[in-house]
Amino acid sequence: MTANQIDLKEQLKKRLFDSISAQIDLIGYVPDDIAKLVKSFKFDSGNSGLVSDDAGLETGLIENEGITANYQADKEKLAELVNDHYDKIFYDCEGMMGILHGDTQYRNIGYWDETTLSQDQASERLQDALLAFIPEKSGRILDVACGMGASTRRLLNHYPAENIWATNISEKQIESTRKNAPGCNAQVMNAVDMAFDNDFFDSILCIEAAMHFETRQKFFEESFRVLKTGGYLVLSDILLTSRERFSQLPMYPSSDNHIETIEEYYQLLSAAGFSAIEIIDKSKDVWAAHFLRAINRIHEKFYSGDIDIIELTDTLWTYYNANAVMGTCLFVSAKK
Ligand SMILES: C[S@@+](CC[C@H](N)C(=O)[O-])C[C@H]1O[C@@H](n2cnc3c(N)ncnc32)[C@H](O)[C@@H]1O
Repeated sequence: MTANQIDLKEQLKKRLFDSISAQIDLIGYVPDDIAKLVKSFKFDSGNSGLVSDDAGLETGLIENEGITANYQADKEKLAELVNDHYDKIFYDCEGMMGILHGDTQYRNIGYWDETTLSQDQASERLQDALLAFIPEKSGRILDVACGMGASTRRLLNHYPAENIWATNISEKQIESTRKNAPGCNAQVMNAVDMAFDNDFFDSILCIEAAMHFETRQKFFEESFRVLKTGGYLVLSDILLTSRERFSQLPMYPSSDNHIETIEEYYQLLSAAGFSAIEIIDKSKDVWAAHFLRAINRIHEKFYSGDIDIIELTDTLWTYYNANAVMGTCLFVSAKK
């Protein structure tokens, strides 16, 4: 090998090492995850620099300085962090977003079965499954955390534009929604602080966003307030794998938003006043199916030469990192 080739090889090794180290640090907050990842592997103290001994695994003594978010639950700060995250990745159509999501304007992980061929189909299927909970699709509907407006646009199949409202904390995404769903009422608004009158909506839809709210409880109370009696709140939601995740990742709110079980979820909706509550665990057909498809697709792109080893490694780690965070995926319907 020439000196230049050796230098390039060393640069590649460093680049891969830095990328993988950063991802392991990010995964490493919750002891259970580390324990699962390493299984029977024994850490050599002083070697990895991550944990000192097996007791460290049990007591959770893993420090992630510089990565742990640990901000106070401040609404504006949180909105800024959420927007920094989504406004960047949602519009990266030439990069991984394009590879994994194709040309869909949806920005969720979808609902898959053996006939689902694309992310767009999976996202439409997700929305249709949630809308199926609403017995009569009439009157006014609100699409909370509407993303880039793909779901708002699909609502036009059932509702006239003037009866559709869409909200998001991102100005940029609301601009996209106005283009994607012309004539609908799209506004920048926080899901936990709605500027609508009491008893205004017949239905509320919220696709894959409540894990970002400070908190779900406030969102449920606001939804109950703005819904008419007899109106439905339908949503898909993801429970994170642990309370610690909320302080670990910048785009999530405080750990007050942690819900451990479906029973707790039920109690929260019930306490907000809702009845006829249905909560269904769809984890296998939502995150697990999306994950497998994404991992497959990224390898296809690698073998066809469209992405290099660095992009492959980065994306795989991002996905395995997300896999450590994603808990139960829920479909929820509740009536006022
Ligand atoms: C995973 S995306 C889902 C987007 C969209 N529902 C879809 O299915 O395409 C989560 C969305 O929640 C929005 N969001 C996060 N926190 C919010 C809040 N407090 N109020 C309103 N929207 C919020 C984000 O801006 C982002 O668009």
